[in-house]
Amino acid sequence: MEKILVLDFGGQYNQLIARRVREQHVYAEIRAYNKISVEEIVKNGYKGIIFTGGPNSVYDEDSPHYDPGILNIGIPILGICYGDQLMAFIAGGVISSAGSGSEYGKTIVYTSSCALFKDVPHESVCWMSHTDYVSSPPEKFKVIAYTDRCSCAAICDEERKLYGVQFHPEVTHTEFGGQIFHNFLFEVCGCSGDWRMEDFIERSVARYREELAGKKALLGLSGGVDSSVAAALLYKAIGNDLTCVFVDHGLLRKDEGDFVEKTFRGQFGMRLVRVNAESRFLSKLKGVTEPESKRKIIGEEFIRVFEEEAGKLGKHQALVQGTIYPDVIESGKGDSAVIKSHHNVGGLPDNIAFDEIVEPLRNLFKDEVRAVGTELGIPNELVWRQPFPGPGLAVRIIGEVTKEKLELLRGADAIFREEISRAGLEKTADQYFAVLTDLQSVGVKGDARAYGRTVALRAVSTDDFMTAEWTRLPYDVLERASNRITGEIEGITRVVYDITSKPPATVEWE
Ligand code: XMP
Repeated sequence: MEKILVLDFGGQYNQLIARRVREQHVYAEIRAYNKISVEEIVKNGYKGIIFTGGPNSVYDEDSPHYDPGILNIGIPILGICYGDQLMAFIAGGVISSAGSGSEYGKTIVYTSSCALFKDVPHESVCWMSHTDYVSSPPEKFKVIAYTDRCSCAAICDEERKLYGVQFHPEVTHTEFGGQIFHNFLFEVCGCSGDWRMEDFIERSVARYREELAGKKALLGLSGGVDSSVAAALLYKAIGNDLTCVFVDHGLLRKDEGDFVEKTFRGQFGMRLVRVNAESRFLSKLKGVTEPESKRKIIGEEFIRVFEEEAGKLGKHQALVQGTIYPDVIESGKGDSAVIKSHHNVGGLPDNIAFDEIVEPLRNLFKDEVRAVGTELGIPNELVWRQPFPGPGLAVRIIGEVTKEKLELLRGADAIFREEISRAGLEKTADQYFAVLTDLQSVGVKGDARAYGRTVALRAVSTDDFMTAEWTRLPYDVLERASNRITGEIEGITRVVYDITSKPPATVEWE
């Protein structure tokens, strides 16, 4: 399979770059610049390399650099933003600060004809975000694009197939960004485009049929997209040699547990063990109010339950996990501070006795996982499910979690989701849910004074959940949700809408 290397210098768009490449049906993998040597790059046989952007100036003392030998191994390179400057710098060019000539945002770029800009008009819109620029290209390089403020917006050494662009072809604001990637991959690197989801499924099925022949595998199904797709894929490969254990911790949304069971046991006919462990989890959570303690308790209890079930089921050689690519990418940036421990419920300890761990989705981005899920016949409701935290509703109930509060929250949350879906807004917000606050307030129901709980509704729009904006839901949708929640759910007398973005708030309230 042909591969492109995305060499990460700490830019914010590294995953986007890899996705743009994969959209062209070429497999791309991201590696941090300081974790892969030129020798390994040569050994891996990449068809091309993309240097990502980065936050630094090449002259900063601690800016990421790379072995100049990379320019002479015969593999085409496309440098983007910092990657362009770094390539020029290590090839002997000069980088300068543009000072007041810095560009940010949509900019008209004028390109000249070359392989990288095939079918790109002379004048088009690109996205710029830079202070430094290549003020003097290295020997043998020529300038192939400019803007009104930047005399050198792209360079190339056609002989060595080295290309650099100051702008960002990976962001959608760059009008011909897709074409530029296409050109780099097919015109410059000579790729054929062999990365297809159907082939991925076929290859994976063949692979696991062989690797797991005569063995039994166990999978912890959570009902989330990743474990569901991993289950369907492995089931296609090894059928009933796969057993799924679905630990229902009782903290799921309304009817969710039944739906998971119906899909996998009913529709697919998989061997599925559902463990109804609500009371066990609730008793562990009794009196616990601190969010991180809740997470820890739920995570640990999940492991206990899973271990017990695994023990009952007898020897299974393989454990299947729904790890996906963003979970495993090593970053070219430093480590950032932990705000919440997202140790996923379902994350299992190293000491469970399995001979091997199987991670069939390890190389896929989320959108690719969804495409595989659809191809395998998993219902849209599951494949397009919004993210749901492993500790479930426990982190959406402020304070102690009780059965009664869970029921209230489930009801309110289901109504809110139903109203969003009725209004056709499922794709407008990327995550939307209800939170049961610990606030009681006075209300009036019928003619009587009522003292009830306050529910907060939350909807956010985001690309990556690292930052998020509160979604401007139409008032009438909020109104219908509020009326129905207070009308249909006894015990709730007030509904508020959360209008805080992230940062400073987080998506979940706990
Ligand atoms: P925050 O609240 O950190 O949420 O802004 C960002 C995204 O992560 C999800 N989230 C979790 N997912 N276990 C998970 O599996 C957790 O403990 C957890 N906490 C938050 C949240 O739903 C959002 O999508």
